[in-house]
Parts: sequence; C-alpha cells; structure tokens
Amino acid sequence: MKQVAIVGVSGKLGQHLARDALERGYDVLGVCREKSVTKLGELADRISVVPGPTNDREVIRSAVSGCDGVLTVLVPWGVDHYSSGTAKAVLEHAKPEARLVFSCGWHVPGHPDDVYPRAKLMAQSAMAKAMRAIRVMDIDDQVAAAQAIYASSARWTVVRGSTLEEGESHGMPVWAEHVGHPRLASDRTRRIDYAAFMLEMLTDDGFIGKAPAINGRLTPSALADDGPT
Ligand SMILES: NC(=O)c1ccc[n+]([C@@H]2O[C@H](COP(=O)([O-])OP(=O)(O)OC[C@H]3O[C@@H](n4cnc5c(N)ncnc54)[C@H](OP(=O)(O)O)[C@@H]3O)[C@@H](O)[C@H]2O)c1
Repeated sequence: MKQVAIVGVSGKLGQHLARDALERGYDVLGVCREKSVTKLGELADRISVVPGPTNDREVIRSAVSGCDGVLTVLVPWGVDHYSSGTAKAVLEHAKPEARLVFSCGWHVPGHPDDVYPRAKLMAQSAMAKAMRAIRVMDIDDQVAAAQAIYASSARWTVVRGSTLEEGESHGMPVWAEHVGHPRLASDRTRRIDYAAFMLEMLTDDGFIGKAPAINGRLTPSALADDGPT
C-alpha cells in the first residue's frame, strides 16, 4: 500500500483520515468540493488535492485510478444521489486490486442478523422522510450506495459507525458483525478512532466483503463485553 485516496477529505472524518494516513507513511490524495479546499488548512500542503464534487465520475477517475487504497466518506447530502453516485464512481474507477473502504452509519443494513428496534426504525423513517421533503438529505441513498458496494466484485469493506464525537483517542474501536450486538449498545465512538479503524481495513484482508459495525473501546458496553475483537 503506497498511495491512498480520501474521498470527502475536507470533513471532520476526512481530515482525521488524512492525518492518520500521512502518519502511516502513505502518499495521500484528497477529493473535496472546490469551496471546501480552504477547510484543509495546513493539510493542503501535505497532500495532493483534487477539487470537485465526489459524485463526479471524471473527478473520481483522476483521483483514484492510480491508488492502492481508497477511503470514502459516504454522506447522503441533497436529493441527487450524492452518496450512491460517489460510491459508484469509486467502484467504477478504482483499480480492481485496490482496497476500498467506505464509511456510513449503523442505520445502513449490512448483515442478516442486524437488529433494529421498531421504535428506532420508525423514528429513522420519519426523520428520513422529513429530510427528503425539505431536500436536505436522502438517507435512503446511503443505503442504496451500500447496496451497490455489496453487489460489486471490488475488495470492499463498509465500516458502519455509531454516533461520533470529537476528542482524543480511546484506542481502536470494538466491532461486531451485526447491529444490535450488546457490545455496541453504548453507541459512541471518537472520530479519530473511527478513522484509525478505516485505515486498519486497508491492510486487513480479513474484512474484505464485510460491513463491521463499530463502537468505542472505552464505552460501558464495550468494557462489559468479554467476547473477541
Ligand atoms: N455524525 C455521526 O454521528 C455519524 C454517526 C455514524 C456514522 N457517521 C458516518 O461518518 C461519516 C462522517 O460523518 P460526519 O457526520 O462525521 O461528517 P464529517 O466528517 O464532518 O463529513 C461531512 C462531509 O459531508 C460533506 N458535505 C457537507 N455538506 C454537503 C453538501 N451539501 N453536499 C455535499 N457534501 C457535503 C462535507 O464536505 P465539505 O467539506 O465539502 O462540506 C464532508 O465531506 C459519514 O459516512 C457518516 O455517515 C456519522
């Protein structure tokens, strides 16, 4: 693994990913909307930046086609299939042997044993409808993005995050194959640790074709769990 692209590098998670990737010695190439390049600050001098919408196939082609790994922050902004467009552009243009790692939330199904309490499903569905009605966000499009990834023959991992918070590292998150596992109950992960988990996926072939759900290592539910991870 030598060159790594970060799609959505200007956001909070993207910037953690970029710093961690640089610390691990990778050459980093970041994609973000042109108006967000200024958010990169000093990072802009340490990485190559490809400005443009992340669902633009040409932008993504020029960024990822030479990379050994691609870390993609999937965000469901707007109602123009931003998330699924981004995922499909990465799947289309990354090298077939590249390791592809995508972020999303637990709300994205990824295992037959996922458990979603009925009340939460109803609240999520109401929120998704409201966000789509005011054209801010299309949460279902993040689900569509994941489905496109699952259907592909790429070397993918989808990392399903819990609620995120800033703060110093608590160590590598714990994970479970399915949402609803007791070790995930606390639902809290430091963004810096989410980024570290995604970076680990680049070189861990054991997670190819999997969608682990993660949670902070020092949360009560993780500490109470004595199972493997
Ligand atoms: N926040 C949580 O609690 C949480 C929980 C579970 C999973 N996750 C997952 O973690 C990842 C990062 O989420 P985050 O909440 O921490 O956000 P974040 O890292 O701050 O990233 C936000 C991203 O959204 C982009 N964005 C914002 N408005 C946009 C617009 N109108 N059109 C296109 N792009 C836009 C930003 O790009 P610009 O810099 O160009 O604005 C940035 O790349 C996501 O995959 C999310 O699903 C988050």
